[in-house]
Amino acid sequence: MDPLNRVTVVAPVNIAVIKYWGKRDEKLILPINDSVSITLDTSIMRAKTTVCSQPDFSENQLWLNGIKTSFTNPRLLNCLEKIKHLAADQQSVDPAVLSWKIHICSENNFPTAAGLASSAAGYACLVIALAKHYKIKTDLSILARIGSGSACRSVFGGFVRWHAGVESDGSDSRATQIADSSHWPEMRALILVVSDNKKHTSSTIGMMNAVKTSDLIKYRAEYCVPKRTDKMCEAILKKDFVKFAELTMKDSNQLHAICLDTYPPCVYMTDVSHKVVEMVHAYNDMCGEIKVAYTFDAGPNACLYLLNADVPRVLTLIKHLFPSSSSDFVTGLGDVEETETEFLKSFPIQPQTEDVIKYVIHTKVGKGPEIETSHLLNEKGYPL
Ligand code: DP6
Repeated sequence: MDPLNRVTVVAPVNIAVIKYWGKRDEKLILPINDSVSITLDTSIMRAKTTVCSQPDFSENQLWLNGIKTSFTNPRLLNCLEKIKHLAADQQSVDPAVLSWKIHICSENNFPTAAGLASSAAGYACLVIALAKHYKIKTDLSILARIGSGSACRSVFGGFVRWHAGVESDGSDSRATQIADSSHWPEMRALILVVSDNKKHTSSTIGMMNAVKTSDLIKYRAEYCVPKRTDKMCEAILKKDFVKFAELTMKDSNQLHAICLDTYPPCVYMTDVSHKVVEMVHAYNDMCGEIKVAYTFDAGPNACLYLLNADVPRVLTLIKHLFPSSSSDFVTGLGDVEETETEFLKSFPIQPQTEDVIKYVIHTKVGKGPEIETSHLLNEKGYPL
């Protein structure tokens, strides 16, 4: 038995296909609409967190990606307080344990600087580790939601729906699994990390301004998303890629339309993002059928969803239109055999200047969070 009761968890990134954008309660992080996402494989992109506590620790301490960070983030404090509260109610641990200070060490295996959503994986990891440390039984998606809205979907693998809920205490604002990771094994994601120096408005601020100033967002939450979410769940369950892809692209476009309808506007997509959109539509037109979908979060990076069989041609196209000087341009599941390149000759878009896309992460649907035995904190409770 580990005297520090160290618990280590890895948790996945998820990328929404029906977006969460807008809160009805800032403190409890309650959304104005349902959302749907795909959980990605933790062997390619994941957050990892170790927590431990003991009577000798003099203060709560936090290390993020190797850097000691102050333990003052209100969302972190909120999660910890809520979990300790539940532990006290459930009498799940000796009351003395609840007075001990805690050490938390967390890292991502993908560059945070790349602007990829890391808070979802990070908070899912944190609350699962804390819940296990304090031996509480509860809905983990509700706990993760209190850290960061999108984190509630990273608690499950496969295809996930976050139900907005109607209760003011957030008790029905939780995620459920639509289908597990084995349901649609052909599904792949290509994440195109765009070179970008601009500091974009955070999702939290962007969506707050949208709720305050956009008229479109009300229409979206009330009329568009409810229908779209049901259709999306149906498309996933039926493995109807064409419908899935169309809904995904339309929903991403609507999110960014709302960002422009926000006052002052929030501009997340860059010229390169728009070139990716153009590429996808031109490719789908060329195929005579929708083969690829794009979706964009609060930044310029594109996430393309497509089926396994189309990965070789799409990667060939990306490398042609977005030439790179890097020798490991495609990471994750890696590059695939070059396909015939005949189709590139008549492709209606010209290659862009070199290195506007930094790299591509090739990944697939994942199983969700897991407990690990290799800790990030040593036997004294400090980073290894
Ligand atoms: C565009 O979950 O990062 O990625 O709840 O304020 O922490 P907070 O916001 P966050 O927002 C994510 C928004 C999004 C869409 C999505 O993931 O559904």
